[in-house]
Amino acid sequence: MGYPKKVKLVEVGPRDGLQNESRNVSVDLRVNLINQLSACGFPVIEAGSFVSPKWVPQMANTIDVLSRIDKNSFTSYPVLVPNLRGLEEAIEADAKEIAIFGSATEGFSHRNINCSIAASLKKFEPIVDRAIKEGIKIRGYISVVLGCPVEGEVHPEKVADVAKALMDMGCYEISLGDTIGMGTPTKVQRLLDILSRDIQVTQIAGHFHDTYGQALANIFTSLQYGVSTFDCSVAGLGGCPFAGEGASGNVATEDVLFMLNGMDIETGIDINKLVSVGEFVSNELEKPSASKAGRALLSLSKVRTNRTSNHG
Ligand code: HMG
Ligand code: MG
Repeated sequence: MGYPKKVKLVEVGPRDGLQNESRNVSVDLRVNLINQLSACGFPVIEAGSFVSPKWVPQMANTIDVLSRIDKNSFTSYPVLVPNLRGLEEAIEADAKEIAIFGSATEGFSHRNINCSIAASLKKFEPIVDRAIKEGIKIRGYISVVLGCPVEGEVHPEKVADVAKALMDMGCYEISLGDTIGMGTPTKVQRLLDILSRDIQVTQIAGHFHDTYGQALANIFTSLQYGVSTFDCSVAGLGGCPFAGEGASGNVATEDVLFMLNGMDIETGIDINKLVSVGEFVSNELEKPSASKAGRALLSLSKVRTNRTSNHG
């Protein structure tokens, strides 16, 4: 069975994870988290959003986060931008990569960015034009590609239309968001069959949520199509606001990495360091990690440490 030998993991915890926290998330914590993730070897770490702080208060002061983090030369630190105002701030913050974010359904588009799909694409055009002039890379997100909390089933053709529009505009990659985690391997196959007619699989990223425990199966399915970029969130940060209290959100990075390591797929990420970061952020947020691999590896390392200290 064929799959890529190398995978790019996009760590979205500091943005997609923390944006869903009900408690206040300080700039200090965000900077500390990003610095620790940088030390794990991620090629991409989403650092925040330049969106309305009324809509997403946890991402306020992203400009301070960007100015304070220790940047690796090999890591990209993209920020989400919904409009030209957000882009101006990203430029001021010296961001080298941004992400614009649309939706596969009208219902979710209105809920997330307060406009129709067509209006969102119109808004994105000048953002992309200006970003390209500034030498900034642009990633395109599409939410609710495998199920929508407002409209239910989503037709793959609708996703393909938005994906094509974003690629034509100048995005270098499209991240497919299974925002409410309703995707299953068969649905993923159907979507990738249609999308891969217009877009190369190397320009597609999978952004799966583990709300119904399907994320790793969906990633495995995508790997078989040749998809080699996946978004994930340390400790599975980021509950899904539409799935009820306690439901998992973004797939946990530790779980994805454990699977990829087991398949001998190269990522460049140190799993032991990552597990410690998961423990750190879970302690800071005073909640258990949502990563099964993270919890198991942590308890294993504690058992080993105890054994070593007991034996002197
Ligand atoms: P709006 O209300 O239609 O627009 O919001 P507006 O232009 O009338 O602005 C409303 C207020 O926001 C105004 O303030 C603006 O100044 C301010 P007020 O006059 O009321 O005091 N504002 C801004 N402030 C700071 N930075 C800005 C900015 N723009 C306006 N750039 C808007 C439209 C898009 C701004 C709003 O809907 C918004 O910010 N939405 C954010 C949505 C968001 O961040 N969602 C989460 C990210 S997407 C996601 O998580 C999914 C993903 O992970 C994939 C997946 O899982 O599916 C990517
Ligand atoms: Mg997400």
